[in-house]
Amino acid sequence: MTQNLWGGRFTEKPDATFAEFNNSFKFDRRLFEADVTASIGHANGLRRAGVLSDADADSIVEALSELLTASTATPDFFTSDAEDVHSFIEARLIDAIGETGKKLHTGRSRNDQVATAFRLWMREAADDLSEQVRQAQSALIRAAERHADAVLPGYTHLQRAQPVMWAHWCLAYFEMLDRDRSRIADARRRINIMPLGSGALAGTGFPVDRAAVAKELGFDGISANSLDAVSDRDFAVEFVNACVLIAIHLSRLAEDLILYTSTEFGFVELSDAVSTGSSLMPQKKNPDALELVRGKSGRILGHQTGLNTMLKGLPLAYNKDMQEDKEAVFDAFDTVTACLKITSIVLDDLSIREKEARTAAVTGFLNATELADHLVRKGVPFRSAHDAVGRIVLFAAANSRELGQLTLEEMKAIAPSIEADVFEVLGLNATLASKSAAGGTSPERVKAALDEAKTRVNQ
Ligand code: ARG
Repeated sequence: MTQNLWGGRFTEKPDATFAEFNNSFKFDRRLFEADVTASIGHANGLRRAGVLSDADADSIVEALSELLTASTATPDFFTSDAEDVHSFIEARLIDAIGETGKKLHTGRSRNDQVATAFRLWMREAADDLSEQVRQAQSALIRAAERHADAVLPGYTHLQRAQPVMWAHWCLAYFEMLDRDRSRIADARRRINIMPLGSGALAGTGFPVDRAAVAKELGFDGISANSLDAVSDRDFAVEFVNACVLIAIHLSRLAEDLILYTSTEFGFVELSDAVSTGSSLMPQKKNPDALELVRGKSGRILGHQTGLNTMLKGLPLAYNKDMQEDKEAVFDAFDTVTACLKITSIVLDDLSIREKEARTAAVTGFLNATELADHLVRKGVPFRSAHDAVGRIVLFAAANSRELGQLTLEEMKAIAPSIEADVFEVLGLNATLASKSAAGGTSPERVKAALDEAKTRVNQ
């Protein structure tokens, strides 16, 4: 039985059910490497302050380094009834070097310790996450390039609106993910500040050079106020916020593709490898991978709410409520990482049914705006042109024809300014080509945007 770190003033043993309730080792062992690393930094800080002799500091640092090696080499290394990862490491250190190990906790508390380890862990997680987002962006670029000429109906209100290039759709999600990467980088700047040396709440009573410890641990700076340093978890909230927006972006992408794979739309074919069948209906091919991506976004959002709600009423400084921050962050990170990986696989494997998508893009008056623009170029004010084209659409729909299938006379009867060159603007290519201002879906713009995206994702 591992001794807890605080037994001195207690005469009774912890209730077994409470001990289990209080135990965080089952999840915070994930901080093992970060906490050992921070402990080495702390030992060196105590050495520089003259609090630990060189011999003691050397022995502690060496034993901690050996723990790192042993943790990956020893099966069952983490089998322990330790209260948390901090108690676990200290107990292992004392097992290894005896009395000297008992000196490590000088001038620190688990409160500054846990905040430090959590930030170290999150700094790495932020880098991993950013890389996964980049991978998904690359998959979007590949999907765009595999179907460089494909065209889809674009929607507003889920009603056919105007045609867009498939690559334009891909690049829309590319941009969302690009902002997600910048949000992660921004959160990382505030994550990478060192709380160590704040003690339990009031600061440390030993003259450690905190800046030197921070430098050794790769932090960009040190916290300015000990009460704040041990008790805020805004950095964790920011990290989860970044996860939430990624999850929301992936969920919308999933929703689009789920619709596009349905028979009703029929623009996209997913690979069998990311689809499932029905136990009853032999014909079914279901987009489960995408549905899970959409569904899991709810869970990540839940962690954001849980974390914020846990924090909102806490008095300064540390409270045990804050132990709840770990599972929220770990699960948000794990879940969003899994969603990013699956989305990349789905994108790499899908194909566009280009013929069907193109047919849909020219069915349902998606060129009505072009007809109105044609009238504007003939001198008709836009509002009047809009009204006239509305009446032409009404006429065409009543006769089950598209605008390009009407005769010039039929159109002129409603809008006399229409001329024979109208048929040039009603074609799909003309419709697309006209969206040539920056950010638009003209094939030329999209090609340039794709090149630019490739440069950005490789930076
Ligand atoms: N497991 C704790 C946490 O995650 C570590 C800090 C405990 N500190 C304390 N004073 N009880 O928050």
